[in-house]
Amino acid sequence: MNEGVFFMKLLNVAGARPNFMKVAPIIEAIESYNNSNSKKIEQLLIHTGQHYDQNMSRLFFHELGIPEPYVNLEVGSASHAEQTAEIMKRFEKICVSERPTHILVVGDVNSTIACSLVASKLRISVIHVEAGLRSFDRSMPEEINRVLTDAISDILFTTEESAKENLCNEGKSEKNIYFVGNVMIDTLLKHKEKAKTSNVLNRIGLQGSRYALLTLHRPSNVDDKKIFTQILEALLLIGKDTPIIFPIHPRSLMKVIEYGLEKYFNWMLYERSFSVSGINENNRIIAIQPQGYLDFLQLLSNSVLVLTDSGGIQEETTVLGIPCVTLRENTERPITITKGTNVLAGTDRDNIVRAAASQLSSPKMNLVPPLWDGKASERIVDVLKCFIK
Ligand code: UD1
Repeated sequence: MNEGVFFMKLLNVAGARPNFMKVAPIIEAIESYNNSNSKKIEQLLIHTGQHYDQNMSRLFFHELGIPEPYVNLEVGSASHAEQTAEIMKRFEKICVSERPTHILVVGDVNSTIACSLVASKLRISVIHVEAGLRSFDRSMPEEINRVLTDAISDILFTTEESAKENLCNEGKSEKNIYFVGNVMIDTLLKHKEKAKTSNVLNRIGLQGSRYALLTLHRPSNVDDKKIFTQILEALLLIGKDTPIIFPIHPRSLMKVIEYGLEKYFNWMLYERSFSVSGINENNRIIAIQPQGYLDFLQLLSNSVLVLTDSGGIQEETTVLGIPCVTLRENTERPITITKGTNVLAGTDRDNIVRAAASQLSSPKMNLVPPLWDGKASERIVDVLKCFIK
């Protein structure tokens, strides 16, 4: 570390797809702060390599203008324990050699908790962006990651007001909690116009068509054959009126093949097409490859309905005013329901069909939650500069 120039040395951690759109605006805001201030924040980006496919990782770096990581730990896929342990082993070495004063983690993936735990034990301050969200459902690995990361974080940045209450209930001190808004929405607002130049609608033959967009990858939804099938049965019914576009996550694709569920889909844009006996030409769940950020945003912005089990997409649909049906029993993002366009449908076939019909017929809403204004990263840097010594 160059003691004379840098007063805060920060390791920015990113590992999985939903992290990339969160770190991008933070890196940019720190860069812009450094350009006009003499007290600097030195930042190094560490990619854990939890996600590694072109479409799950590299494309996002390219499209969002994220600089090449300083280090890629290349941990790849494994069981939760193996993946978390491997990230910890490799990240500890970086912490020991780089001696940062702070690390910054975002979201709730395995990389988030693994790196926080390492830093905390080395007495490096942990900054958690998107702190305090709670589904109160410990069967979700992300909920465990969230609770544990917050417990050992020193600076907590929150996206919505419920988060502060959750953190205080868990004994965190109010003075370490900063309500700054939503960095994921910073990225969305920045790229909204550019996404309109994407030709993804033409490529899929959707120009001018009415369609719904689906994402589905939670272990609780796709790892259990009965639940996965039940959801697909609901989607087939919804698809009769409104075709459903499904950029399929690698985990879900693996399960489709393992359980022999290929017949539920029409496979488009796949290099290898599945030869499925008994495929119904009228199936309107159209599976496509995972999309990059801009193509996905274009698909999202033009859809009439979103069905999802993702966390971030509940927030993006809220800001875009697109009706969202969440295929889960709970959400850690309650503001998307109270102030947004989101409803919870769980995984019951009839509930999903009913929720979709009701969402499609309800008037378009456009209520943006407080501080989801594209300036969350600037507010984060405003706080961070107070910690520069
Ligand atoms: C992870 C996050 C989840 C997030 C999701 C977004 C955790 C606990 N979960 O889940 O919160 O919503 O990312 O995508 O951190 N795979 C590939 N290529 C890749 C990455 C994964 O083929 O680049 C496959 C592998 O078979 C892997 C499986 O997907 O075993 C699951 O990947 P993993 O990182 O374990 O969790 P996700 O389900 O992606």
